[in-house]
Amino acid sequence: MTALMEARDLRRQYKAASGLFVPHGLVRAVDGVSFTLAAGRTLAVVGESGSGKSTLARMATLMEPPSAGELLLDGAPTAGANAAARRRMGLGVQMVFQNPYGSLNPRKTVGAILTEPLTINRRGNRAARAAAARAMMAKVGLREDQFGRYPHMFSGGQRQRIAIARALMLRPRIVVADEPVSALDVSIQAQVLNLMMDLQDELGLAYLFISHDLSVVRHIAHDVLVLYLGRPAEQAPKESLFARPLHPYTQALLAATPSVEARHRPPRAAVKGELPSPLNPPPGCAFVTRCPHATARCAEQRPDLRPVEGHLVACHYAGEVG
Ligand SMILES: Nc1ncnc2c1ncn2[C@@H]1O[C@H](COP(=O)(O)OP(=O)(O)O)[C@@H](O)[C@H]1O
Ligand code: SF4
Ligand SMILES: [Mg+2]
Repeated sequence: MTALMEARDLRRQYKAASGLFVPHGLVRAVDGVSFTLAAGRTLAVVGESGSGKSTLARMATLMEPPSAGELLLDGAPTAGANAAARRRMGLGVQMVFQNPYGSLNPRKTVGAILTEPLTINRRGNRAARAAAARAMMAKVGLREDQFGRYPHMFSGGQRQRIAIARALMLRPRIVVADEPVSALDVSIQAQVLNLMMDLQDELGLAYLFISHDLSVVRHIAHDVLVLYLGRPAEQAPKESLFARPLHPYTQALLAATPSVEARHRPPRAAVKGELPSPLNPPPGCAFVTRCPHATARCAEQRPDLRPVEGHLVACHYAGEVG
């Protein structure tokens, strides 16, 4: 079966605003990421702030081209495609953003927000668009009589339901969700995650689900990709990653991840020490400054991503430590 989405060694770099004392003016925001995503599956991308998750999301939704590497949709490269073809491909991949307050236009009613993608893409007549919007409201657990209300009249969880409904109006096969529940109360997070899983079952959606929080991912993911400073640290099926994390960074993240029941406690710092500057990452392993198992070799030689016990791991000592 062809993957709905395939990333091959995706890279994206940015010129940093050059300051007087900035040594290199280049941030490798995403530095060699590969994955495949099939229908009905959820690939979770996990990493601290600044690890390149949103940059990856923008490439996956064709909002930004990669600096290098390839993104394929349904087996077809997106780079060579002409504008019309790219647009068509892009409609099949929709995005849900983190902030349910900023991502919805406060001056538009829910009805207008939901019908807008259909209007822009000239789908159906006015009555058909309104009917589709009402049907989608019911699907995501909103009441149809809320059609004429404005975003500020809804709670954070309801707004995220609206954002999910908007993303689904064009019947995409892939939804890229960038920290979709991070701004919500813990008690509401589970409701939105459950909704997303129900919609996946019903519609066969594929999710690229981005989060800085492994405990959120534990529920919804089939596969997990752990990013550190733009580079993949570990990739594995979810069960296996949680049962036996092989990269010291994954191990540290997991050790700091409370169980779902204990999530009302204040979170511990995930990993000790500061994230190195993305402008000046360590020359060897990116994790060397914070790794409890680091050796001289780690400081000099960058570990390749390689198969270990059914995972892909970028650590010289994967399987031997932790
Ligand atoms: N448009 C941009 N211009 C310059 N640097 C950027 C830009 N977007 C992201 N970055 C940098 O790339 C790195 C990854 O950022 P981002 O993808 O937002 O990470 P995350 O979503 O995991 O927090 C950060 O160091 C960030 O400062
Ligand atoms: S390569 Fe070395 S520094 Fe990097 S994660 Fe493995 S043990 Fe730690
Ligand atoms: Mg982000």
